[in-house]
Amino acid sequence: MSIATVGVVGAGTMGSGISQVCASAGLSVRLLDISPQMLEKAAATLDRHLERQVSKGMLDQAQKRQVLSRVQMSTDYTCLQGVDMVIEAATEQLALKREVLSRVAGEVSEHCVIASNTSSLSITELAAPLPNPERFIGVHFFNPVPVMQLIEVVRGLRTADATYARVLALAAQLNKACISSANRPGFVVNRILVPMINEAIMVYQEGIASAKNIDAAMVLGSNQPLGPLALADLIGLDTVLAILQSLHDGFNDSKYRPAPLLKELVAAGDLGRKTGRGFHGYD
Ligand code: CAA
Repeated sequence: MSIATVGVVGAGTMGSGISQVCASAGLSVRLLDISPQMLEKAAATLDRHLERQVSKGMLDQAQKRQVLSRVQMSTDYTCLQGVDMVIEAATEQLALKREVLSRVAGEVSEHCVIASNTSSLSITELAAPLPNPERFIGVHFFNPVPVMQLIEVVRGLRTADATYARVLALAAQLNKACISSANRPGFVVNRILVPMINEAIMVYQEGIASAKNIDAAMVLGSNQPLGPLALADLIGLDTVLAILQSLHDGFNDSKYRPAPLLKELVAAGDLGRKTGRGFHGYD
């Protein structure tokens, strides 16, 4: 059973990026968010990214209009009725994701695959209260979604082989590479990447170097495309903190304890690019 229509829940950075990639690959997308403002912002971002592709000659205006016409936005969960797959991309909080997933399960058919784009929560735990845990799976995209090639595919204890196969087929349609990860905190990429970012924050809070120089050091000295503090700002400091807390709680190992400065910035509402300020300032 191929996937032609995808519901995406959450119109933040990840949800809008996933919608763009799906619509560009020819899928019909229903993008759902309870906030009309988030949907307006997602529509503007989508338009801006597609216009950039037009200016580079990758799309013409007619193709841009076609892609845009494939994305239907809604604040109403009933828009998910009839979709082949739902990708939940809500904020990284267990209680919130559970609520969203239970509302999704109330709308979709029993053939629909339900996936979470969680970056660190347990797929088995998210699946447990759902009526069809065998059709639930983790599909972890990376930011910026249109640029990053990888999807981590994470099977929970009950995920069926058929669900896994349908997700691999979708990834091929989206022209993304997949790696399979066991259901453990942080999966593969964040288990390795986020402790490195946390260490960079420790280096910064100890006054060893400025934020600018820490980033320059890692770009010029280890060939990373973006320094770790700038990357934290791109990911969102609230998300970085949530991943560290999942690693810390999940492995019960102090090596994953979040840097106090990270907690303080999140408490202050300085979440990185999305709020205009994190380790660096953004206009
Ligand atoms: N959406 C769509 N396209 C984007 C984009 C966005 N948000 N940001 C950049 N791009 C595209 C640009 O259009 C440009 O495309 P062309 O080459 O075709 O012109 C290309 O990416 C390069 O962009 P820029 O020239 O503006 O800037 P850059 O060379 O500095 O690249 C970057 C920007 C792609 C973000 C690069 O810095 C990078 O790869 N950084 C690392 C990103 C990364 O590690 N992401 C993973 C984060 S971890 C995660 O997501 C998992 C999690 O759970 C937290």
